[in-house]
Amino acid sequence: MRAVLLGPPGAGKGTQAVRLSERWSIPAISTGDIFRANVKGATELGRRAQEFMNAGALVPDEITNAMVRDRLAQDDTGEGFLLDGYPRNPDQAIELDSMLADMGIELDAAIEITADMDEVTARLLKRAEIEGRADDTEPVIRKRLEVYATSTAPLTAFYEGRGVLVQVDGLGAVDEVTDRLVAAVENR
Ligand code: AP5
Ligand code: MG
Repeated sequence: MRAVLLGPPGAGKGTQAVRLSERWSIPAISTGDIFRANVKGATELGRRAQEFMNAGALVPDEITNAMVRDRLAQDDTGEGFLLDGYPRNPDQAIELDSMLADMGIELDAAIEITADMDEVTARLLKRAEIEGRADDTEPVIRKRLEVYATSTAPLTAFYEGRGVLVQVDGLGAVDEVTDRLVAAVENR
């Protein structure tokens, strides 16, 4: 299974990626998690990414694309992977195509988790209380949702045109959403 997970901030990509990666025995690769680990570790990559993340903007493509290319080249992706949070704009999608072409493989599915703005905003504000993620403040959440609408949402049509889009309702209990995802992807 070689798949990307799409959906707005707070849709449950990270939550579901962990579960799906266990089920399918493939690594879940979250660009947001990699960036956050680098910020925490005070690496050069983290230093470059931090200002964009804190503003709710996309980290520049040249930085993100190089990071994903390196990650996909690691040994554990042989049986597949689940990309969470990449691609996030049409240029990244084209770049991903080129990475996969270089590896001699193709994408099997683009899995989109849908959720409305009110629900995702409520989830992220709740998470802010628990985890204190720097970008889970109201103004930054608003900005992230704008960036999603402008830059990322067009990928739905892009992957639909490829015939690999699977859309799943992200509302409801976490287990229910997992069951829906598994059913939709495995019966596609
Ligand atoms: P990233 O880390 O990808 O953040 P995001 O897309 O804003 O999404 P989240 O991680 O906030 O939400 P999620 O969909 O994973 O939901 P989650 O499972 O956590 O990106 C962060 C930043 O990094 C970007 O803004 C950008 O700066 C940079 N970046 C990353 N990728 C990039 C790229 N490709 N290009 C450029 N820049 C990039 O769930 C959210 C909350 O809801 C949790 O508290 C969870 O417990 C809860 N929850 C989950 N499911 C349910 C449910 N069914 N019911 C109730 N609550 C639920
Ligand atoms: Mg996430």
